[in-house]
Amino acid sequence: MVRGVKGTQGYSEQSAELLSRYDNILFEDVHASVMHLIPKTSGMALDLGAGTGRDAAHLTGLGHKVVAVEPTDEFRNSASRRYPHIEWIDDALPELGKLADRIGQFDFIMATAMWMHLDEAERKISMHNVAELLKPEGLLIMSIRCGPTPAGRLMYDVSASETKLLAANDGLEVIFEKVTPSLGEANKKAGVKWLRLVFRNSSR
Ligand SMILES: C[S@@+](CC[C@H](N)C(=O)[O-])C[C@H]1O[C@@H](n2cnc3c(N)ncnc32)[C@H](O)[C@@H]1O
Repeated sequence: MVRGVKGTQGYSEQSAELLSRYDNILFEDVHASVMHLIPKTSGMALDLGAGTGRDAAHLTGLGHKVVAVEPTDEFRNSASRRYPHIEWIDDALPELGKLADRIGQFDFIMATAMWMHLDEAERKISMHNVAELLKPEGLLIMSIRCGPTPAGRLMYDVSASETKLLAANDGLEVIFEKVTPSLGEANKKAGVKWLRLVFRNSSR
């Protein structure tokens, strides 16, 4: 495991339950609002905080070549056994040091339900490092949890305005923005919403 990734707090302990919970959600439901923006022609995809590999596996099924970054050992080890055709990397934001030689290589990058684990300073470094990995015209597809933090985890309040400003500073233009309700009944009741943002790399 990459050491000192504070945003992974609680995941190892709850991994057995979360493995089945995350896998019981369909890619098409999680990403319903942005399905029209998921590239249709096969390309290079990066899934950040890939969890159990649900999305990475779906994307390989669509013909993409997928690199999945996941710092929680329990998720990554289980997912790499189930999906050996995906390249699994034990790494984490903000540094993403193991991807340093992949600048400008990705057609699109998914950051699903993970950005709110980063503190303010980490988000700034992360946006810069993620933007550098995109090809010209490449897409960054984000979903950010807004609302109360589940017990045992570490999350921060993240605003659309801050995220758009960070992205703009790194040459990413916003092409989609929406807030959607949570899919799960318990989260919906608790007032959890998801901020969906999609950016295009217009810098080069
Ligand atoms: C709510 S889960 C989402 C997993 C998956 N993307 C999904 O939608 O099912 C958040 C994931 O982010 C990972 N994570 C937490 N902090 C991270 C960091 N600094 N860099 C990369 N991943 C991180 C956790 O290990 C966990 O797998």
